[in-house]
Amino acid sequence: MSHDQSFVVAVVGATGAVGREMLRTLEQRNFPVSRLVALASKRSAGQVLPYGKSEIVVTELGPQSFEGVHFALFSAGASVAREYGPIAAKAGAIVIDNSSAWRMDPEVPLVVPEVNMAAAQHRPKGIIANPNCSTIQMVVALKPLHDAKRIKHIVVSTYQATSGKGHAAVEDLLAQARAVLDGKPVEATVFPGQMAFNVMSDWKPGDADYSEEEWKMVHETRKIMGDDSIGVSPTTVRVPVVNGHSESVHVQFHEPITAEEAKRLLRNADGVVLADEPYTPGKHPTPAAASGTDPVYVGRIRDDVAVKGALNLWVVADNLRKGAALNAVQIAERLIKKA
Ligand SMILES: NC(=O)c1ccc[n+]([C@@H]2O[C@H](COP(=O)([O-])OP(=O)(O)OC[C@H]3O[C@@H](n4cnc5c(N)ncnc54)[C@H](OP(=O)(O)O)[C@@H]3O)[C@@H](O)[C@H]2O)c1
Repeated sequence: MSHDQSFVVAVVGATGAVGREMLRTLEQRNFPVSRLVALASKRSAGQVLPYGKSEIVVTELGPQSFEGVHFALFSAGASVAREYGPIAAKAGAIVIDNSSAWRMDPEVPLVVPEVNMAAAQHRPKGIIANPNCSTIQMVVALKPLHDAKRIKHIVVSTYQATSGKGHAAVEDLLAQARAVLDGKPVEATVFPGQMAFNVMSDWKPGDADYSEEEWKMVHETRKIMGDDSIGVSPTTVRVPVVNGHSESVHVQFHEPITAEEAKRLLRNADGVVLADEPYTPGKHPTPAAASGTDPVYVGRIRDDVAVKGALNLWVVADNLRKGAALNAVQIAERLIKKA
């Protein structure tokens, strides 16, 4: 690979919420694409998707899909990634997968460019994993603080958008909201109950009465930060927001830190936009404002009132962009620059 080269890029799951964002991100960032291959299941073969000022026709994913492909960006779920990731890697592509399939494999780097880009250089399986969306935005915000004072314990509650569950989940929220406003009964098609005007935890169960999503935040944070001693106490919650995840984060450190020091560290941090104003109702990062943008917004940084030297912060980002598509494209961009 060299700087002035352009690349054949395959997007697996191109019709999905992340896949569509992937196409937008590649185009908006002028990723050097010589040929784009949009792949999905048989259901969507022949569908036409917008790609910049032009369009691209979706083809059915199959074992031959990766011939000549340099980068295969996967966002088609874990079983597709498990089956086709190694096929794409064998065909010579660098695979960057958004699903949970490969994240905790010791031979697969789990990468957030602002935090641990060096890990992406060692990829014995030819696969790089993109972390879970909630984990990505949290570690982008916390890495500069970890470098300065070493994190001991994180208590995080998430406020996750419906787009994090895919395209169909957003449609379910909107249909439910219409039903509620029309005074009709709510029929849930994707969520396990009423999501409109409601809040719930809707992830699969994991060990010890935590959800799988909560365990992802525990294990992935440690792997990305390269520090298994970090304690993570998560509660993941879905809110009736279309797009953009928010997080309330309490952090304790091995050395005390003040809110002022944290703001100084985050003011110029890679990938972060610091919202520095004093508390004013409604004047803080929100998912509606973050949606469609790239940064991780950090605001409401406060000294904890009960635990000396600890912090509370509010972290918001677009889960489809930094939480998925953008992170994957940034990994590819940085690999190209290094080569
Ligand atoms: N949404 C987020 O914020 C987010 C963030 C991080 C990671 N992720 C992960 O990214 C992946 C995709 O999520 P999403 O939200 O984009 O889901 P989605 O909207 O439901 O899209 C799923 C995509 O996968 C394709 N697909 C499904 N089964 C397939 C098969 N057998 N062969 C080929 N393509 C297949 C679908 O194609 P068809 O049109 O043919 O069905 C569609 O393009 C998941 O693993 C998810 O966990 C999502």
